[in-house]
Amino acid sequence: MKKLVLVTIVAFVLLFAMVGIASANGGPHGGYTATTDACAGCHRAHTASGAKLLVANDTTSLCKSCHGTAGAGANTNVDDGLYLSTRDDLAANGDVGSTNTPDNAPLLGGGFLFYKTVATSSSHDVSGTVTAAWGNGSGRGSTAALSTALTCASCHDPHGSPNYRIIKETINGVTGVSVAQVDEGAAKDYDTENWGTGQSNVCAACHSDYHIIAAGSGSDLGLLASGGTAHRIGMPFTYGSNANPETTGYTDANSVNVKVPLANTGATTGTADTVECQTCHLPHGTSAQMTGFAASNGSVAGDSALLRLDNRGVCEACHQK
Ligand code: HEC
Ligand code: HEC
Ligand code: HEC
Ligand code: HEC
Ligand code: HEC
Ligand code: HEC
Repeated sequence: MKKLVLVTIVAFVLLFAMVGIASANGGPHGGYTATTDACAGCHRAHTASGAKLLVANDTTSLCKSCHGTAGAGANTNVDDGLYLSTRDDLAANGDVGSTNTPDNAPLLGGGFLFYKTVATSSSHDVSGTVTAAWGNGSGRGSTAALSTALTCASCHDPHGSPNYRIIKETINGVTGVSVAQVDEGAAKDYDTENWGTGQSNVCAACHSDYHIIAAGSGSDLGLLASGGTAHRIGMPFTYGSNANPETTGYTDANSVNVKVPLANTGATTGTADTVECQTCHLPHGTSAQMTGFAASNGSVAGDSALLRLDNRGVCEACHQK
């Protein structure tokens, strides 16, 4: 009897230790011990094929060997924008899976090739060939070169980080990028937004000139040093007589419903949560369709600019005109 209790305790301790590792970073990303085997999953000292001793030809191919359509090492399939619990590999990576996320749920980041089963209409190009980013200290609607070309590791740190979703602490030469981790419950939640403070900081590191946090005079829209206005972010949305844009959203006469997520920054939960870049945009890619007035925006003609909803559905989710 005593032995059984002990075994049970040991089993629980082990279980919680594994949960602890997984909820800190996830998969093979960080929380390494002094004698970890994890390095060998991605680097080989003498038999590497890519730069930085990687076992794949380049960084993005390495990530996709687990996270891509044909990947087998991670449940989060970022190409198709789906959580596939059948790819769970508990033992291999110390991954406890996400009991919070149902099989086939669309991922929060969107998808690089497909989103909600439709081919993407715009995505961040992580092929490692693109270096110019919009508003990278260059003003709105114009581009300037990043410190290095865009890959998955431009935004995520493969070795783990204290940030939400292992977002890097130094992005595009900007140090101290902070995106708060949030309590997602017993396991990671890959299909319901649980955003904390600083969610937009990741975007601002490359698109600094789109980061309008100060109110302009006479309205709540931000004024730009270069002239003109842009939609502010970082302000609480007190939706007043409008329906809650996160939970109820706006439903039109054809019963089409639109919702957008807000960050829960603590003090104002429930009535006034914060507007982030990702309230309107998906970080990986979207399949939203742009027609009519929305089909062209001047700087990126005919494309959907990573917007999470068709046309200007994002506007209606909040303003409900
Ligand atoms: C999930 C895959 C993965 C694992 C596991 C991993 N690395 Fe890396 N590592 C990478 C990638 C990808 C890069 C290149 C990042 C880039 O392209 O900027 C890298 C870069 C590095 C670099 C050079 C740049 C830097 O960050 O200093 C070192 C050193 C390194 N890794 C050591 C390690 C060690 C030691 C381990 C084991 C504790 C390890 N890595 C585990 C993927 C991984
Ligand atoms: C422009 C920055 C950026 C790039 C580039 C990027 N990610 Fe992400 N990624 C994010 C952000 C931000 C989130 C958090 C989304 C959320 O929770 O709302 C995320 C989430 C994730 C997740 C969790 C699942 C999900 O979709 O929410 C995985 C896994 C992931 N990224 C892997 C990758 C891989 C693999 C690549 C390259 C093929 C990549 N990311 C490229 C910013 C980026
Ligand atoms: C050996 C397989 C493997 C490789 C290679 C790999 N990952 Fe992962 N990654 C995982 C697993 C397993 C998880 C846990 C979640 C899951 O099952 O999808 C994970 C989780 C993540 C998460 C979510 C972390 C969180 O906080 O929830 C991100 C972001 C991520 N990986 C990015 C990357 C990027 C970027 C690369 C390439 C530099 C990469 N991964 C390479 C297996 C891998
Ligand atoms: C590491 C730098 C980097 C970060 C971080 C980054 N971007 Fe980008 N972004 C780029 C580059 C480079 C391009 C242009 C090339 C491309 O489309 O991939 C771009 C393009 C875009 C576009 C235009 C896409 C199109 O095809 O019309 C939008 C919208 C965008 N980013 C929004 C965001 C948002 C929102 C975030 C935060 C979640 C973010 N970016 C984070 C580098 C970055
Ligand atoms: C209220 C919704 C909303 C928010 C919040 C928002 N955007 Fe946008 N974004 C748009 C729309 C709509 C477009 C399409 C072009 C337009 O209407 O100006 C766009 C276009 C873009 C583009 C493509 C280049 C261009 O000039 O068209 C980039 C890059 C971008 N946004 C980055 C960001 C970043 C970074 C943040 C946060 C600092 C952010 N956006 C916040 C709605 C939003
Ligand atoms: C997350 C909710 C949210 C989304 C999405 C959103 N807005 Fe806003 N918008 C606000 C808030 C908050 C303000 C400032 C306070 C207010 O007027 O309610 C604002 C202000 C404005 C104003 C200025 C109002 C004034 O009195 O000066 C305009 C115009 C506007 N938004 C248009 C748009 C358009 C166009 C879109 C879609 C591209 C959009 N908004 C998307 C929340 C949102």
